[in-house]
Amino acid sequence: MPKNPTRVEPFRSGISELSVTARVLILVEALWLGKHGRNAVSKRKIILDCDPGHDDAVAILLALASPEVIDLLGITCVAGNVPLKLTRNNALKVCELAGHTDVAVYSGCARPMVRELNTAENVHGESGLNLPGGGVLPEPSMTLRSQHAVDYIIETLTAEDTGSITLCPIGPLTNIAVAMIQAPEIVPRIREIVLMGGAAINPGNVTPVAEFNIYVDPHAAHVVFSSGVPLVMMGLDVTHQVLVTAERIDALRTTGGQVSSTVADLMTFYCRFDLDKYRMEGGPLHDPCVIAYLIDSTLFDLKHVNVEIETNADLSLGQTVADWWKVTDRTPNCHVAYQADDTRFFEVLNERLARLP
Ligand code: BDR
Ligand code: CA
Repeated sequence: MPKNPTRVEPFRSGISELSVTARVLILVEALWLGKHGRNAVSKRKIILDCDPGHDDAVAILLALASPEVIDLLGITCVAGNVPLKLTRNNALKVCELAGHTDVAVYSGCARPMVRELNTAENVHGESGLNLPGGGVLPEPSMTLRSQHAVDYIIETLTAEDTGSITLCPIGPLTNIAVAMIQAPEIVPRIREIVLMGGAAINPGNVTPVAEFNIYVDPHAAHVVFSSGVPLVMMGLDVTHQVLVTAERIDALRTTGGQVSSTVADLMTFYCRFDLDKYRMEGGPLHDPCVIAYLIDSTLFDLKHVNVEIETNADLSLGQTVADWWKVTDRTPNCHVAYQADDTRFFEVLNERLARLP
């Protein structure tokens, strides 16, 4: 299996049979790759679907700091870490922190498709974005767009070229699934879904086998995982390798400006949960893995396997059942990340965040 299953091979055979124009184009591409590295990626149009949340906040900032590879069309918000009225307000606060007051932010579904909402104030605080000592980020002056997030997702996928938009859900999958149900014609128009959620070979973080985003709305996850859209799953398998240690918080504080130092404060609050509860050496920076993958996919190793969502059983509700050793004849539907280069991940993160004010 290639290290990165979604990357297009840039080199071709049979060059001597090609036209002069084609040869010139290949030469230009080769020069580009020589200068920018074999992993140079084209700019991706994305919709970031989130439930901020500390790690969502860092994912938003990382995307905003990477305009040469990420064209952030819009941010859609969903209920998850905290209720919707807080996640959407937090998304506005984060954009404003970065000085990007022009970002289009939409409010989406206030509850999962079938189940009642489970939230995670124990991790993120009552506001969803608590700072040490109980502080919060300033109230935003930006306002939400009036369109519902689901309608925005449908309208954008319909208006843009087929295969040009990547969806990046980093919260429960409710908005994405409702859009797919409401307008099934958008499904084949999606280039790829790169999501944070699930755990293939790692235990769960909210039940022994389920990860929070999938557990909160397993029915939505089922819709997305059975949609046929190419999926990349950044689950606990890799996010538990990307730990914000005390040293990494210090590095953030010393290398960047106001945004990096605010992220250091946010991480100080966020990490206390995993340090206390799991005795981990740092908090797992789950959601930014999605954006880091778009910036440099070689930060991760992936395996193409079948992943199904458990929606019936009590004990394993929300489990991402991954056929890791291909013991069934179920068709692989998901590229699951299982190995992260955490050192390079934090180099990328620090460098990018330092670009912001
Ligand atoms: C996921 O759950 C949320 O608390 C985080 O924001 C992340 O998206 C990790 O399980
Ligand atoms: Ca999240």
